[in-house]
Amino acid sequence: MKGIILAGGSATRLYPLTTVTSKQLLPLYDKPMIYYPLSMLMLAGIREILIISTPGDAPKFEDLLGRGENFGIKLTYAIQEEPKGLAQAFLIGEKFIGDDSVAMILGDNLFYGNGLGHMLRVAANNVGRATIFGYYVDNPSDYGVVYFDRGGIPVSIEEKPKESKSNYAVTGLYFYDNRVVDFAKQLTPSERGELEITDINRLYLQQGDLDVKLMGRGFAWMDTGTVDTLLGAANFVKTVEQFQGIIISAPEEIAYNMRWISKRKLLESAKKYGNSNYGKHLKRVANGKILYSENIGERPYWGRNDDDE
Ligand code: G1P
Repeated sequence: MKGIILAGGSATRLYPLTTVTSKQLLPLYDKPMIYYPLSMLMLAGIREILIISTPGDAPKFEDLLGRGENFGIKLTYAIQEEPKGLAQAFLIGEKFIGDDSVAMILGDNLFYGNGLGHMLRVAANNVGRATIFGYYVDNPSDYGVVYFDRGGIPVSIEEKPKESKSNYAVTGLYFYDNRVVDFAKQLTPSERGELEITDINRLYLQQGDLDVKLMGRGFAWMDTGTVDTLLGAANFVKTVEQFQGIIISAPEEIAYNMRWISKRKLLESAKKYGNSNYGKHLKRVANGKILYSENIGERPYWGRNDDDE
């Protein structure tokens, strides 16, 4: 499975914060925003990732993340000339996707919750079908919305309905099989002039091939499109990290525990981050001091604690 992070758009709602830089490069508390969606795709087990951004910002992402060697993955970059909709990512990424299945995550979505990694790997292995995630919100009209019948089966899906009888927003995380490229080619722009991801999801739904997994109360999902949600998400990360005494969404830590990078490489990265808390965290991971366990009831697991290269 391939992965795409969509980090385009002009983020005018965040001006002047985003006048000279991309929203997805802004800090979310202690690390650039893109670290969070990158961590998600890595937790899903995905190692080939395309980052799509604007002509001005794509080089900045590459400056920050390189070709992925520090994370044991392969990163490539592509440009979305104008924000013509989320579904355009599959046209821009057609060659990159090739014959593979693909997951896409929006670069400004933050997810957190126990067992998330397991949930992602199940979605990544849902062969021949699509998986999206529903999250109960108070303001469904700001999102794509999914409707269920009494048996909990998804029956329809709508983009930003003026009034909504369902409170289930569709999050910015999507897992598709290879048909998504053909589906994207069939789309015509919506009233707001965009190729809508919701139209792709509707095509899967019509074929009976759409699975909607609900993220319950134990999960946090936030998008960070306004100054208030940006600050709220940053405060959330600060709270979790301070109370748990860990750093969340550290791609190098995930890479190490996935056995994609060696202990030496992890320590090299830790050194590069200097005396920041992030750097100190990676050092503690390498020294087996950080509990790495997703599920309640699991045996305690302090990540890898070996000397292998
Ligand atoms: C987009 C999608 C919407 C989805 C949301 C999640 O909205 O169009 O279906 O619920 O992302 O963040 P937009 O960011 O374009 O407002």
